[in-house]
Amino acid sequence: MSRTARVGVLVSGRGSNLQALLDAAADPWYPADIAVVVSNVPGAYALERAAAAGVAAHTVDHRGKPRADFERELIATLGEVDFVCLAGFMRVLTPTFLDAFPERVLNIHPALLPAFPGTHGAAQALAAGVTQAGATCHLVDAGVDTGPILAQGSVPVLAGDTEAALAARILAVEHRLYPLCLRWMAEGRVVVTNRRASVQLQTGESRWITGA
Ligand code: GRF
Repeated sequence: MSRTARVGVLVSGRGSNLQALLDAAADPWYPADIAVVVSNVPGAYALERAAAAGVAAHTVDHRGKPRADFERELIATLGEVDFVCLAGFMRVLTPTFLDAFPERVLNIHPALLPAFPGTHGAAQALAAGVTQAGATCHLVDAGVDTGPILAQGSVPVLAGDTEAALAARILAVEHRLYPLCLRWMAEGRVVVTNRRASVQLQTGESRWITGA
């Protein structure tokens, strides 16, 4: 029997993607355990979700310290973890952090990368007038939302969509994508070559999902 991967989750806010990972990990057959949650924002609601699930929850405030010190403190607080999931974590990470977890840091982004990196993915999609929006789960490199793509999911942009309505539709896809991609990582089914990921898919799996 293979061992269950230990996962740390970094958060800054409401933590709905953290909740999706916690819910997935509650299944005894899921190959990853959420071992620790760290927020850079004191009082973030995600910390309550962690506590409710019985997961260690910590705050490492980024304010008032050099970025490298902040990142070293994050590494120390995470402890021995196999993977780190960014779930609405609003700080850019540098090699100080990333080199501690090579090709083992995941992120979920509310756009079909490489379109619309950075913040406000739904607003960017509306402003561009695209007909399909979506989410991307990817490995994190030192760029902003530029790492190898693991899987993507699309949703239609509907007539009269507001940013909030589209963002909510995208979020539902994020909640399906993230546990799927963490499973692939934990099961050792992802290989990265020349900054591109390939996934050993099982029957019925796809790297592209569609939402309502
Ligand atoms: C999500 O839209 C995610 O794609 C982005 O930040 C948001 C976090 O939401 N990176 P939540 O805190 O997981 O609810």
